[in-house]
Amino acid sequence: MHLLNFKELSNQELIQLVDTAIAIKNYPQKYAKTLEGKTAALIFQKTSTRTRVSFEVAMTQLGGHGLFLDWRTTNFVMADLSDEIGYLSRNIDCIMARLLYNADLNKIAENSRVPIINGCDEKYHPSQAIADLITIKEKKGTLTGTKMVYIGVHNNVTNSLIEACTKTGIKITTVCPIFNEASRDNELLKETKKTGLWESTLNLKNAVSDADFVYTDTWVDMEFFTDPKYSEEKEKRIKLMMPYQINAELLKGINAYVMHDMPIHRGYEITADAIESPKSVIYEQAENRLYSAKAILLKLIRT
Ligand code: CP
Repeated sequence: MHLLNFKELSNQELIQLVDTAIAIKNYPQKYAKTLEGKTAALIFQKTSTRTRVSFEVAMTQLGGHGLFLDWRTTNFVMADLSDEIGYLSRNIDCIMARLLYNADLNKIAENSRVPIINGCDEKYHPSQAIADLITIKEKKGTLTGTKMVYIGVHNNVTNSLIEACTKTGIKITTVCPIFNEASRDNELLKETKKTGLWESTLNLKNAVSDADFVYTDTWVDMEFFTDPKYSEEKEKRIKLMMPYQINAELLKGINAYVMHDMPIHRGYEITADAIESPKSVIYEQAENRLYSAKAILLKLIRT
């Protein structure tokens, strides 16, 4: 079994993953040796703080080993992906990969003898969405019936959040004036729309009025943020997106928790006063990446 997105996971399996993550968080000692002798290869083609830390620490705390592999200093840079994975999957128990392209992740999955976890590509970010669900359940005591409002560019994080919410009974409204075409998955949009739990609007004030959570993400993909070639598009996006910033003015009079998957670009998609407001759960949400990683690794390596 792989975790490339949530399409192959039943609603019940996703809910179970969240509950397992919370159990591991509450009773860490019970799980301390569950992956003893196991190794997860952690392949990074893009930068990361949380995904690397959470999966590496998760393997250590479960009694196994997380083997960090930097794409640029391995022979992934020169060899055929199928050959490298054909070899790698004979020596390890699981692969978590953060790649630029979903097509490459699928190629890895096709050529691997062991489970593959998507550590974020241009289309999906499932381990983040599981951490988001953990945070929602911790704050509200339930998933079903809560209301999430995602404000920002429709991207990979948005796709996984929509999937995760609609599979677990959370109502989600997306307020996305820009759609990142690289992330487009029409099948996902069509299927999640059918649940009746996802809607999109540009009426920001109306959308947040009864929200339990407001969530944002970077307006510019991480690999482009500091790229001078992308500066014109970046400026265009900032101008268009600024009215959709999460700030103290937007939060005034509403009772929503504030979420962000990090890394944060202060003063762009969110202001310091929103990040530091009493309703901000951003650091708890990021901390929950560890429990998300542990629950995923346990499910995939032990089954
Ligand atoms: N949210 C997230 O995936 O963080 P990193 O990019 O730092 O891993």
